[in-house]
Amino acid sequence: MRPVFDWANSLADARNALVLGIESSCDETAVALYHTTDGLLGEALHSQIDLHAAYGGVVPELASRDHVRRLPGLLAELSHKTGRTLADVDAVAYTAGPGLVGALLAGASLAAGLAQGADLPLIPVHHMEGHLLAPMLSEPELDFPFVALLVSGGHTMLVACHALGRYELLGQSLDDAAGEAFDKTAQLLGLDYPGGPALARLAAQGTPGRFTLPRPLTRQRGLDFSFSGLKTAVANQLAKVSDVQDHPDLAADFELAVVETLSTKCRWALEATGMSRLLIAGGVAANTRLRAALQALCEAQGAHFFVPSAALCTDNASMIAHVGALRLADAQRSGAPVRARWPLSELSAPRGAAHA
Ligand code: KG4
Ligand code: ZN
Repeated sequence: MRPVFDWANSLADARNALVLGIESSCDETAVALYHTTDGLLGEALHSQIDLHAAYGGVVPELASRDHVRRLPGLLAELSHKTGRTLADVDAVAYTAGPGLVGALLAGASLAAGLAQGADLPLIPVHHMEGHLLAPMLSEPELDFPFVALLVSGGHTMLVACHALGRYELLGQSLDDAAGEAFDKTAQLLGLDYPGGPALARLAAQGTPGRFTLPRPLTRQRGLDFSFSGLKTAVANQLAKVSDVQDHPDLAADFELAVVETLSTKCRWALEATGMSRLLIAGGVAANTRLRAALQALCEAQGAHFFVPSAALCTDNASMIAHVGALRLADAQRSGAPVRARWPLSELSAPRGAAHA
């Protein structure tokens, strides 16, 4: 990826730039407009949950096709919502990875077409950097450095965020992501896809404490996660209880095991880094019990806790347009590369940025 566009010389006032963001890495199709001074102007989003529900998970080929089908309509909706047209846009940011490669290409191709047609620069955005910085959209006082817990259907990671583009991976899941564990356990309990929210609702009707479930990888102070054994432990307990009346209690114990494991690792991450800010992002950050546990942890540790609104926790284009605006200097003139795998540690500060 070779940045060839000299943004500073091309845009008279970079504080006055309007960035179009496009997200299509998985099963949400979204476009948003972010202005470098005025902030977020609006977003249009379509979730493919219904499309994939029958299969119990995301079907990559269906996802790609639906992105292609939905994007033009969403652009029209965004224009209607914000009163802005393509003629007002100064740069196009798109999710370049990580994600499903066909899905990524749908957004990248649109971005490349729009940029070429209107002679605009393109900004490839790292999806996880989008998640990491999304809380800044609703919490303007959030500043570096901070520890971030990213918990989604595809990822579970603890990241020390030192500065824009300086992210240190502290730990990650060795197998299932936290959201995946929620989804698979929900499936065991006969709940519909996506299982996370359904399992949380079931857990709210139960009382934890009846079932003994592990807190994986918490015997030693490591920051990696492993959730696949927890799902198996639920399957074993389920084989012993035949009554569906027991499911809410089992769901509550599963949720508590995940929450306590995540919370323990967050405490260790705060202690290991000496940082005093913690934020959560990703779909699982919508979990009420997790939010409450981390809020209590931060109060006990004297740390500040940041949690984005539910809409900013799950996949969206606002976070992509936002990172695009922070990375105007990385804009390029042509090509729209995508990467299915893309370690966060390969990111650096935007070109020309002062080193923190
Ligand atoms: O970040 P996200 O929208 O999509 C990606 O995975 O990229 O996260 C979706 C994940 C799913 O696994 C879903 O089951 C989980 O977040 N999730 C929840 C809750 N809401 C969504 N898990 C637990 N409790 C919730 N309330
Ligand atoms: Zn995501």
